[in-house]
Amino acid sequence: MPKEVVFLKLGGSLITDKSRARTARPETIRRLVEEIAQARKAVPGLRLVLGHGSGSFGHMEAKKFETAEGVRSAEDWRGFTMVWAAADQLNRIMTDALAAGGVPAVRIAPSSCAILEEGRIAEMPVAPVWSALDAGLVPVVYGDAVFDRTRGGGIASTEMVFAHLARSLHPQRILLAGIERGVFEDYPAREVLLPRIRAAGWETVRPKLEGSAQTDVTGGMLSKVQEMLELILREENLQVLIFSGEIEGNVRRALSGETLEGTRLEK
Ligand code: IPE
Repeated sequence: MPKEVVFLKLGGSLITDKSRARTARPETIRRLVEEIAQARKAVPGLRLVLGHGSGSFGHMEAKKFETAEGVRSAEDWRGFTMVWAAADQLNRIMTDALAAGGVPAVRIAPSSCAILEEGRIAEMPVAPVWSALDAGLVPVVYGDAVFDRTRGGGIASTEMVFAHLARSLHPQRILLAGIERGVFEDYPAREVLLPRIRAAGWETVRPKLEGSAQTDVTGGMLSKVQEMLELILREENLQVLIFSGEIEGNVRRALSGETLEGTRLEK
C-alpha cells in the first residue's frame, strides 16, 4: 500500500499571540512539535508536509503595507521585504523548535520558489518537496511574501501553497489546526460548531462565515474554507479537517488518524 501523504497546518493564531507584534507562543510550539514527533513514531510510514501560518509576524506587516493588494512603489517594496523578514523569522523559530524536538524538518520557502499571477500561485516546484518526503524528512512550507507576475508582489497563505502542492502530491488528508474548535456558524459568539461543510451546500453556509473574514490579510476562515472546498472538488479522495490544536493531544491524534471534534469539509 502506498504511504499516506498528509498535510498539516499549524495556524498563525495557534503558534503566535495575534494581539502582539512578532510574538511567538514557545510553549505551545514545543508541545505541538512533541505531538508531531510522537505521531511520526506511532505511524512510521507517515509522509508529512508541514505548513504554518504567520499570525502576528507576517500579518501585521502585510496589513500595514497592504502587500496583498500588490507591490509597486519603493515603499511597497520595503513593505514586501518587511513581510518576508517577519515570515522568515517565525519560520526560523518553527524549524529550530522542530530540530530541537527531533523532527527532521527542512524549509521550502515559497518566497524563494513560487510565483503568483493575479494573487494566485502560478508556479512552485514540487520536486524538492517530493525529495524531502522520499528522504524521510518533513518539508516545511509557510505563509510568505511572494513575487507576482502581474501585481509585483503579494501574499501566499499556507492554504494556497497546500492547494498548489496537492495537485501533484495528492494528499489523502489535510489537517488545519487552529485555536478554534472548528468553523462556527455564529462567529464570534462561537456556540454552534459546524461538524461538516459540504461543497454542495457552501453558498448557504458562506454568509454565516463572513464575520471572521476581515481578521487577516489572507481572508480569515472564509477564504481558507473556500480554498479547501475548491481543492476537494478537484481531488479524487481528499479529507479536510479543521480542528483545535490548542487542545492537548489533538495534533497527535489527528495525525494518527483518530476521530476528533472539528469541522470536516466534504464534496
Ligand atoms: C499568511 O499566511 C502569510 C502572511 C501574512 C505573510 P497564512 O494565511 O497561512 O497565516 P495565518 O494562519 O492566517 O496566520
